Formats: sequence, structure tokens, C-alpha cells
Amino acid sequence: MNNKQWQIGAVKIDGQAILAPMAGVSDIAYRLLAKEHGAALVCTEMVSAMGIKYKNERTHELLRIEDAERPVSMQIFGSNPEAIALGAKVVADAGADIVDINMGCPVKKVVTSGDGSALMKNPDLAARVAEAAVEAVDVPVTV
Ligand SMILES: Cc1cc2nc3c(=O)[nH]c(=O)nc-3n(C[C@H](O)[C@H](O)[C@H](O)COP(=O)(O)O)c2cc1C
Repeated sequence: MNNKQWQIGAVKIDGQAILAPMAGVSDIAYRLLAKEHGAALVCTEMVSAMGIKYKNERTHELLRIEDAERPVSMQIFGSNPEAIALGAKVVADAGADIVDINMGCPVKKVVTSGDGSALMKNPDLAARVAEAAVEAVDVPVTV
């Protein structure tokens, strides 16, 4: 495997294999296995910013990170800038090394709320969502 080191912001990544964010798949056990098998960066399942805001129990289960899986990128989704700012802060406080915002999910349940890939229909809102996350946290924000 190519072990070239690169960085996202100040986060050093030792290699080029990255575990994709996959809802229902990239849970903590899967991420630790991927790490054991050489993933240089692992990404969590997407976490709902609204779920964080309303303290949904299932959402909070998704926030657990172990040191052994670092560096870890935690993905949030939503289209409300204030909720995204809060979500970004909560996942960074939970230990995320990188906050990633989902702007690609095409699933009906997600796009009908204006989240995921629906944000691509509204570039101004997408920019405000990204800006809100960047202002809320010190860790790098990716999309
Ligand atoms: C079951 C499943 C769940 C996924 N969930 C997410 C997700 O939560 N967030 C995201 O950004 N992409 C999600 N994706 C997309 C993947 O991260 C990846 O971009 C996609 O599978 C293309 O990569 P590949 O060509 O290596 O398969 C999901 C894909 C699959 C198959």
C-alpha cells in the first residue's frame, strides 16, 4: 500500500486508503476493522444535525469514537445552518478530527428535507451551511 503522508488541514493521514462514509455500515466496529486492515482515514455513518439538536437517542449512539480509529472524519447532514453549526460543534467535541458535511446523499428521506444532494440545488444555502460549520469548529471541515 502507498503510505505517503498527506494532510487535511493539520490532520496527518498516513496512506491513501480511506473508508467511505456509509450509513448503516461504517459503524464503530466496522471502522476499527478497516483501521486494522490499513485504512489511513475512516469516516463515520452520516449523523443528522437535527437528531443532534433534538437529542435523539439513536443519533447520540452514532457519536462514539475510539482513539484507536483516529484520525476519524465524522459526517453530519442537514440544511439548516444553525443546526449544522451545533451539529459540527457536538461532533468535534465528541472527538471528530474532521467534520464532513454530506452534500451527496440522494436518498428520498434525506432530499425531501432539503438535505444531502438537495443542497446542490441551492448553492447559496450550501455555502451558508458550510460557513456555519467552519465558524463553529477549529477542526477542518470538508464536504
Ligand atoms: C450502503 C451505502 C451507504 C452510504 N452512505 C453514505 C453516507 O452516509 N454518506 C456519504 O457521503 N456517502 C455514502 N455512501 C456513498 C459512499 O461513501 C461512496 O461514495 C460510494 O459508495 C462510491 O464509492 P465507490 O465507488 O468506492 O463505491 C454510501 C454508499 C453505500 C453503498
